[in-house]
Amino acid sequence: MTTTQDAVTAAERCTPEYRRDPHAVYAQLRGTAPVCPLRPPHGNETYLITRYEDARTALSDPRLSKDMYGAIDAYRRIFGDSSVALDDNMLNSDPPKHTRLRKLVNSAFTPRRVEALRPRVQGIVRTLIDECPTREPFDLLPAFAFPLPIIVICELLGVPPQERSRMQHLSTTVAQAGFSEESKRAQQQAEEDLHAYFTDLTTAKRDRPGDDLMSALTAVRDNDGGLSEHELVSTAFLLMFAGHKTTAYAIGNAVHHLLTHPAQLRAVREKPELVGPAVEEVLRYDGSVESSTFRYATEDVEYAGTRIPKGALVQIALSSANRDPQKFDDPDAFDVTRGSAQNAHLGFGHGPHYCLGAPLARLEMESALTGLFGRFPRMTLADPAGEPRWMEVPFPAFRGLAELPVVLDP
Ligand code: HEM
Repeated sequence: MTTTQDAVTAAERCTPEYRRDPHAVYAQLRGTAPVCPLRPPHGNETYLITRYEDARTALSDPRLSKDMYGAIDAYRRIFGDSSVALDDNMLNSDPPKHTRLRKLVNSAFTPRRVEALRPRVQGIVRTLIDECPTREPFDLLPAFAFPLPIIVICELLGVPPQERSRMQHLSTTVAQAGFSEESKRAQQQAEEDLHAYFTDLTTAKRDRPGDDLMSALTAVRDNDGGLSEHELVSTAFLLMFAGHKTTAYAIGNAVHHLLTHPAQLRAVREKPELVGPAVEEVLRYDGSVESSTFRYATEDVEYAGTRIPKGALVQIALSSANRDPQKFDDPDAFDVTRGSAQNAHLGFGHGPHYCLGAPLARLEMESALTGLFGRFPRMTLADPAGEPRWMEVPFPAFRGLAELPVVLDP
């Protein structure tokens, strides 16, 4: 058993042990340091919140701002200068700006509008599966889990098919930025390329509008609907970025946990109506947004008896909140029969910034699982006894596998 001090260090540094089982570290923190100051490289002014009730409160606490421009010094300490170019969007703003920007795209993501996409999403799933090898091992992440959300979000935005792989590459580079100078440079270049790309796309949509989100946003911009060019480009970037890796990793985590919990997979196969609850359980048990939920204290606040000083950054560990035994019965059990009443997880956040794309993410995950396990009921991990390889990250923002070798029809 490590001490709390060790646990905090591990949480910051993302050692391989931590990546293998962050939940053990979080369990310790919830017990002994539920609001924990992080040490360098984050600096002393970052606090990690790990308990469910604190996390839920913090996610909608107006004293904890999402306004990146207000918090710019605090953000720069962590991310450097490069990350502000494309961040003039709803995720990094407070009301009333947040309300204005969210309202512009909200109607495209309502459950009813998203439900209308079901046949198309199922079609994409079928096409991707058709292209996968059936008898030999292959990595499901690049072949299936990553392309699915990128195709869906590119179609929604109106990004032409020939640009998809470039979008995937650029948004992955932005997301993978580390602390080294080299990776910071790569991130900055990718952000500049994305900025240039979305600026050009706006011009193209101006000339030849289509039935897509970029055309709609460009029209709002041109008709003086209160959207700056910078906000328009940043919103397009956010939708691409937020809708891509999060969903890809969540699909990977779902397939991995179902394949490693055969009784749970059997339950889903026997009762297809359990696919929805299985998706929710994956998001609770091992969701893809681990703690990429920064906020900035605009005044001194107190959580779990700890004072968080004005100016500090606050990181909310959704993955920890979702395993809090004060909230969930038997939280470390992966149980697809939990049911919605017992599964008020925070995997999509909570409050004003609750994930705009949640209905779409659910649709993609359900379609992916139904498509894969429906067609290949004997699907298995390529090496069932092997250790899963979790993605290594500079700080624990996202939770996903580095690879997922499977055999569809052994
Ligand atoms: C916000 C999780 C998929 C678009 C968020 C937040 C979380 C989250 C936790 C809140 C962050 C915070 O409060 O700081 C996820 C997960 C996904 C997923 C786990 C997949 C399983 C998507 C998809 C889209 C999307 C497919 C579609 C484009 C957004 C947007 C926001 C957001 C635009 C910002 C909302 C706001 O600030 O009001 N997401 N997301 N997400 N997500 Fe998702």
